[in-house]
Amino acid sequence: MGAAKRKPGWFEDDRFWTDLYPSFFPPARWEAAEAEVESLLELVRPTGTRVLDLACGPGRCSMALARRGYQVTGVDRSPFLLARARELSKGLRPKPEWVLKDMRDFERPTTFDLVINLFTSFGYFENPDDDLKVLRRMRNSIKPGGTMVLDMGGKEGIAEIFQPLSVEDLPDGGLLVQRRKILPDWCRIRNHWQIIRAGHVQDYHFEHTLYSGRELHDLLLQAGFAAVQLCGDLSGKPYGVGCRRLVAVAKVPEAIGDPS
Ligand SMILES: C[S@@+](CC[C@H](N)C(=O)[O-])C[C@H]1O[C@@H](n2cnc3c(N)ncnc32)[C@H](O)[C@@H]1O
Repeated sequence: MGAAKRKPGWFEDDRFWTDLYPSFFPPARWEAAEAEVESLLELVRPTGTRVLDLACGPGRCSMALARRGYQVTGVDRSPFLLARARELSKGLRPKPEWVLKDMRDFERPTTFDLVINLFTSFGYFENPDDDLKVLRRMRNSIKPGGTMVLDMGGKEGIAEIFQPLSVEDLPDGGLLVQRRKILPDWCRIRNHWQIIRAGHVQDYHFEHTLYSGRELHDLLLQAGFAAVQLCGDLSGKPYGVGCRRLVAVAKVPEAIGDPS
């Protein structure tokens, strides 16, 4: 289906990212980016410097990579978040490239040594074929022998700690009420957030597909990746009981030898 015919998803409403920026990207999350990128580089040891940060948001990890000399292309669908990335990366060298695009439409054949998709930026689409399409595009954008790292909340980890309701105080004095619902067959999680400030309530709805380790592993193989390894965090600990993250590391096979 072409981009023009798609039913708009919740993630295409920029008010969501603008309003919830302080909740998704507080200072602690920015600070964590340095350690996340250090772990990731240790885990992957990329063979070159070209990195695609797919769904880069405001560029937390793109910028941490650029500071280490990597040539980063950050792709994101949110004009607001990409404007933040542009603003925050002024003067940074090597200069990251920022691309406003839906991940379903981005592909640069055989260009990158490493493609990353971090902090649960995968599985937003209602149509599961779109997830496969994105993985295929990622795979095609990676050079032979290159690597892909995908980090999300795994189905098993979410099942271990699932709570349908939680309430927290926000630093600005507001209250955040989170309601969560597992959709039939444990295929997706639907979230309803309410932010209450001075008696005024703002509602936000979002949902995404839940992948078990096995489901993600098989989808990556289907997309043409090889040597899929599942980890419980970016340091590479094995994916198992008690893991709050599901991190998949997968390779694009080396080119078969020159036929001549
Ligand atoms: C939770 S944020 C994570 C941002 C970043 N990966 C990080 O680690 O800070 C999810 C990001 O996915 C982006 N996103 C959602 N749907 C997208 C799509 N279809 N194409 C490109 N980016 C998308 C959002 O705009 C947002 O920046």
